[in-house]
Amino acid sequence: MTVRVDVNGALDSLIGAAGLREAELANLEQNVAGAHAALEARRKAKEMRFRDLPYEKHEVQKILELAREVRSEGDTLVVLGIGGSALGTRALHRALCPPFHGHRPGSAERGARLLIADNIDPRTFGAILDEVDPHRTTFNVISKSGETAETMSQFLIVRERLLKVLGGVDYNRRVVVTTDADAGALRQIVNDEGFRSLAIPAGIGGRYAVLTAVGLFPAAVAGIDVNELLAGAAAMDERCSSPSLFENPAYLHGAVHYLAHIARQKTVRVMMPYSDALAPLAAWFAQLLAESLGKELDLDGRVVRNGQTPLAAVGSSDQHSLLQLFAEGPNDKILSFIRIEDHGVRLEIPQGYGDLESVGYLGGGTLGELLNLEQRATEISLAERGRMTTTLHVPMVNPFTLGQLVYLLEVQTVLEAALYRVDPFNQPGIEAGKRLTYGMAGRRGFEEKRAEVEAWMQKKNPKYVI
Ligand code: PA5
Repeated sequence: MTVRVDVNGALDSLIGAAGLREAELANLEQNVAGAHAALEARRKAKEMRFRDLPYEKHEVQKILELAREVRSEGDTLVVLGIGGSALGTRALHRALCPPFHGHRPGSAERGARLLIADNIDPRTFGAILDEVDPHRTTFNVISKSGETAETMSQFLIVRERLLKVLGGVDYNRRVVVTTDADAGALRQIVNDEGFRSLAIPAGIGGRYAVLTAVGLFPAAVAGIDVNELLAGAAAMDERCSSPSLFENPAYLHGAVHYLAHIARQKTVRVMMPYSDALAPLAAWFAQLLAESLGKELDLDGRVVRNGQTPLAAVGSSDQHSLLQLFAEGPNDKILSFIRIEDHGVRLEIPQGYGDLESVGYLGGGTLGELLNLEQRATEISLAERGRMTTTLHVPMVNPFTLGQLVYLLEVQTVLEAALYRVDPFNQPGIEAGKRLTYGMAGRRGFEEKRAEVEAWMQKKNPKYVI
């Protein structure tokens, strides 16, 4: 059940002169070893907290106990969270629960239905609230900062509804909060109102939090084996202990993407799982990349405007949508396939229309086999055009392999950040927009931001609004 990294599709030996030469990888060995030493030192200094998560058994015990409790009290869990407080949970849920798991209320044995309300589109959120029975639903409010406008406004709406339907005592049992252990408005609310709560460990930002209570609690309530997830992450951690990019799968994948960017100008990075179940993992990874590597300044304060643009696709559907561009558009992309060897469901394609060769040849195979043939064909057709690809081989989608994938992609990202010399854990670029929102929404202390918005609106020329 080992996830394997295959970078042949990015090398000149397979795709010709456009590919990376082995010598280029070898030349990066020393940089990678240096980055490894720096990352290990930070890990020892407890500045790489996400790397310890596979081993935090005590926390997991607490999460499992609360999950059992919540499952016995109802049939639905609604997550209120956004960005790193939701994307990882959706990736776990879609990968590890059956496709229509979110459609019907669950049971204590099978796992509760999980609904993830990660946007404040009133149409969607209103529909979720109309759909669930407040007597059998728990709302998991997840926010590391404890003050994200989207999540907190959802919570205020839910709170009012619950208070109205259940009253001041029972309402309390319908909310579980996941937030910082000590800081933030949400922690203060927990302390004041006595909600059941879980802590997001210090030093772990949203996009590295999927293996904390942020992702593990909803996963456990939905019936996912979180111990297996963590075992997968631990197995990958072991494989990521080598400083050599030729032995460490995360470093090999990271080094190839780094070189594709700086030595071959691949500014777009596509992740394309051939699996619907892993489509949300690609969306999670897009956030991880964008927020971790998309930086104006490097660690020395120099302007670098770093980052490749991530793009999430899914095979084979996007062969009929995006592939034309990948094959014939600008050669500015590197594409990572995720290939599932065993899809876990055997759906045979019956024989039929033998007299029509364009249809008849399909009979006798399975849908999973066809999906994998399509992946191989896409890989080769791109290679023949000198387009770079890599492949993550996954024996089958289960908690153990998903734990490996998540951990691999996280370690790969911090390695790349070390090579680019940018901070993978901050996101200064999104703060300006937040402050403007506060100003417009009337938050005290942000009055000048409201004035800034008004002045900006004045600058719009009505002639160009038609
Ligand atoms: O990865 C991140 O840090 C962000 O995407 C956050 O998760 C997101 O902004 C939500 O923040 P919070 O968990 O503080 O509500």
